[in-house]
Amino acid sequence: MATPTITVQLTEPEQKLLQTLVYQECGMFFDERRIHFLQDRLQRRLRATGLDSFYNYYRLLTSRDGKAELAALVENLTVNETSFFRNKPQLDLFGKQTLEEVLSRKQSRRDWSLRVWSAGCSTGQEAYTIAMLIADALAYYYLRNPLPVEMPSPKPLIPPPWRVEILASDISYSVLRLGQEAVYPENHMEPVDYSYRLRYFDKVGDRYAVKKSVKDLVHFDFHNLKTEFLPQRNDIIFCRNVMIYFDEEMQKRLIEKFYRCLNPEGYLFVGHAESLFGLTDKFRMIHVNNGTAYQRIEVHS
Ligand SMILES: C[S@@+](CC[C@H](N)C(=O)[O-])C[C@H]1O[C@@H](n2cnc3c(N)ncnc32)[C@H](O)[C@@H]1O
Repeated sequence: MATPTITVQLTEPEQKLLQTLVYQECGMFFDERRIHFLQDRLQRRLRATGLDSFYNYYRLLTSRDGKAELAALVENLTVNETSFFRNKPQLDLFGKQTLEEVLSRKQSRRDWSLRVWSAGCSTGQEAYTIAMLIADALAYYYLRNPLPVEMPSPKPLIPPPWRVEILASDISYSVLRLGQEAVYPENHMEPVDYSYRLRYFDKVGDRYAVKKSVKDLVHFDFHNLKTEFLPQRNDIIFCRNVMIYFDEEMQKRLIEKFYRCLNPEGYLFVGHAESLFGLTDKFRMIHVNNGTAYQRIEVHS
């Protein structure tokens, strides 16, 4: 027998309860403009759980056994839109200027590790774009500079002694699974130039699989940006098109946390519609040819 369609109209106090619960769990804030979206997703979860009232559903969410349902609700509320090479001017700045500066600074200290975090990575296109740009930047760097050790044969993607680690994290398990799979349909490949497709992808039927050497640079993991625990010692953080779903208080707290988990002089990249203006004075803005990055300001005593 088909499950009857239940339509629940939330009262204002019920809306507030749900808004608060979601905010406390993941930092996403559903104001008046987005309340319909919250209502729509609630409806879907009511259908999925077979519950017939907000009261019963809220009781489930807040019960000891409700953790899985709360995660499912949050997962349904995320917007996972992403693409390869999103915001090209910013990626030009990253590939040509930021990486050049970070690589030469680290090489001068004989520090051969490069750690990048894609926070709110969705289905992985951002992390793999970063991986491809790092591989290219390293290759170009060592065209112009001597490599400190002999290049092994066959030539690896990342020249030794460099170690590149890209952490790709998200609050949604389903997007993380797709990122790990790293196989993308043709219509996701439009922003990927043929030189990148040829070097970094294998064509499998009508889909494109990220090559193993690129995949191996990226590690996918669940992480909720609302929590206090953050991966440490990052050289560069990408958190693009994630903060737009948070309110100002959460944005400020998150930027403060990013400051703390960046290495000195590290960089933060945010989305094209996002800015640190008015939220912090601990980063300097770098703006080149329409691309923007923020660099951690060091306070010397
Ligand atoms: C619009 S996508 C952005 C993807 C990619 N960064 C880009 O710019 O193309 C936003 C992602 O942030 C994730 N997200 C939202 N709230 C989060 C939180 N509290 N912790 C971690 N990830 C979160 C969502 O699941 C979603 O995949």
